[in-house]
Amino acid sequence: MSDFNLVKAVDWRDEKLRMLDQRVLPETVAYIEYSDAAAVAEGIRHMVVRGAPAIGIAAAYGVVLAARAAYAQDAENWRSKIEPDLECLAQSRPTAVNLFWALKTMKAHFASITGHPETELLSLAKKIHTDDIVANQKMGDLGADLIGLDSGVLTHCNAGALATGGYGTALGVIRSAFAQGKINHVYADETRPWMQGARLTAWEMVEDHIPVTLLAEGAAAYLMKLKRIKWIVVGADRVAANGDVANKVGTYSLAVLARHHGVKFMVVAPTSTLDMNAMNGEQIPIEERSAEELHFSYGRRIAAAGAQAWNPVFDVTPAGLIDVLVTERGRVEQPSVEKLSVLMSKI
Ligand code: MRU
Repeated sequence: MSDFNLVKAVDWRDEKLRMLDQRVLPETVAYIEYSDAAAVAEGIRHMVVRGAPAIGIAAAYGVVLAARAAYAQDAENWRSKIEPDLECLAQSRPTAVNLFWALKTMKAHFASITGHPETELLSLAKKIHTDDIVANQKMGDLGADLIGLDSGVLTHCNAGALATGGYGTALGVIRSAFAQGKINHVYADETRPWMQGARLTAWEMVEDHIPVTLLAEGAAAYLMKLKRIKWIVVGADRVAANGDVANKVGTYSLAVLARHHGVKFMVVAPTSTLDMNAMNGEQIPIEERSAEELHFSYGRRIAAAGAQAWNPVFDVTPAGLIDVLVTERGRVEQPSVEKLSVLMSKI
């Protein structure tokens, strides 16, 4: 078990939500406190917190803050007064379905609440948080079982403790497989332009004493050609009913390269990331962020002024390129609509 569990991306303390500011990691470890839902939505939008499960957990705590404010405003009608805050949270980021799943899960509880809603909603938000950690540990075991001895693995973006309630999805599998002595080395894509790999994944690995080497994502093909990796292990922001996976932009190219080089491709995601209402990847909304993220780096212009920039921050990997999807309910090899329907009908 890793020491990294001491670092929490999202933490409820002293009746407030604290979120670790991931924009300034790893140089600065600083928490920002939130006591209203609109500010939580801004924190999600501006990537104080990021990673699909962590966004969902932050939103769940955001609902607790929203309910507190709505009840103070009008104790009789808090269920209608809370709506603008729920809408504000829903508008914060479009692709990670965990956000909408968490809002729906919290809202489904409203009808049964009598009196002040805060205590009950807080225990539900805490349950969403702890269930996510339990799911990650389960997925860690299920994914690690597939990894053979002396394997190199490549991961993309950050699907670690920072992106979840704790332990991580893709990094959870890597942590478990490393603890079992199966992984000889972890390679981490830098993940431009936001550098989640360089700043966050590398930090998590270094803190856990897991040997990690950074590479520019353009180097991934050559890494595979040199046979340094047996697996690519990534997380997901949304998995469609047919098994297509939206994840950090660049994931799709890695999956194409993996198939060409005979490298196995594993997606690790809790069932809260599965969206059975999206029939396939084309129905997943893909966030496009500002051109500034490509034009500037840490406040300094790096691109030629006058050049346009296109900044989709996710892409869709077709199910046919995925060898295995690991969830807390079990593994699905070569995911398909039939297999995912069976998985989702399991309790
Ligand atoms: O833009 P981000 O940093 O929120 O994107 C995060 C990812 O793409 C992760 O890989 C994904 O959310 C899985 S996190 C367990």
